[in-house]
Amino acid sequence: MARDFWQPTLIEGRRVRLRRHRKENLPSVLRWYRDAEVARLTRYQTRPMTKDEVERFFEARLISPDSVAYAIHIAATDRLIGLTTFSSLDADNGSALFHITIGERDGWGQGYGTESAELMLAHAFERLGLHRVALSVFSFNERAIRSYQKAGFHIEGRLREAIMRDGRYWDEIQMGALREEWLARAAGAAGNAVDPLSVSSR
Ligand SMILES: CC(C)(COP(=O)(O)OP(=O)(O)OC[C@H]1O[C@@H](n2cnc3c(N)ncnc32)[C@H](O)[C@@H]1OP(=O)(O)O)[C@@H](O)C(=O)NCCC(=O)NCCS
Repeated sequence: MARDFWQPTLIEGRRVRLRRHRKENLPSVLRWYRDAEVARLTRYQTRPMTKDEVERFFEARLISPDSVAYAIHIAATDRLIGLTTFSSLDADNGSALFHITIGERDGWGQGYGTESAELMLAHAFERLGLHRVALSVFSFNERAIRSYQKAGFHIEGRLREAIMRDGRYWDEIQMGALREEWLARAAGAAGNAVDPLSVSSR
C-alpha cells in the first residue's frame, strides 16, 4: 500500500506513460548508456559507463523496490524510449533530485521529455507532497534546459566552468521547481498543459 503510493506501477500522460522498470528493460538501458552522445550529455566522466556499471545502476537505482524510477514509454505504441528517476529523496527538507534520459535518439525533440518531467513533477508535488525538486544540467545541453523550463523548472544558479567537454570548460546549471509555483501553474493551466495525475497499478 505505502509502496503503491510512492511508486505507483503506472503514471499515465497523454503521449507518454511512465512504468516501473522490468528486467527485460536492461538491454535497452545498456545500449543507451553505451552511447557516447548520451554519455557526453549526462555524465561527469567523459567515457560511457561500462557494462558492469550499467548493470549495477539498473539493479540499485532502477529496478530496486526502494527507488522512485520509471521507464518512459510512448503511450500510442508502448515503445520503451528512456528513463526518469528521483534520487536523494530528503524527507526532512521535502526535496529530491530529478534525472531523465531519453536513450532512443529518434525520441529526442518530440515533446516526450517535457511531458515526462511534468508527470514526475506532478507526482512529486501532488502525490508525494514534496516541496522542491532540483536538477543539474550542463550548459551546452540547450535542448534539456529548454525542456526543463517548459516543464516548470527555473534556473537558480551556475557552477562556473565545472565541466570539461569538447576541449573547453562549460558551466553546470542548477535548476529547481517549487511546489507552490507548480500548483499555481497547474491551476492556471486548468487542465490544458498537464492532465491531473493519473496513476494505476496496471
Ligand atoms: C533532455 C531530454 C530529456 C529532453 O527531452 P525531449 O523530449 O528531447 O525534449 P522536448 O522535445 O520535450 O523539448 C525540447 C525543446 O528544446 C528545443 N531544442 C531542441 N534542440 C535544441 C537546441 N539545440 N537548442 C535549443 N533548444 C533546442 C526544442 O525545440 C524544444 O523546445 P520547443 O518545444 O519550445 O520548440 C532528452 O532530449 C534527452 O534525454 N536527451 C539525452 C540525454 C540528456 O540530455 N539528458 C538530460 C541530462 S541533464
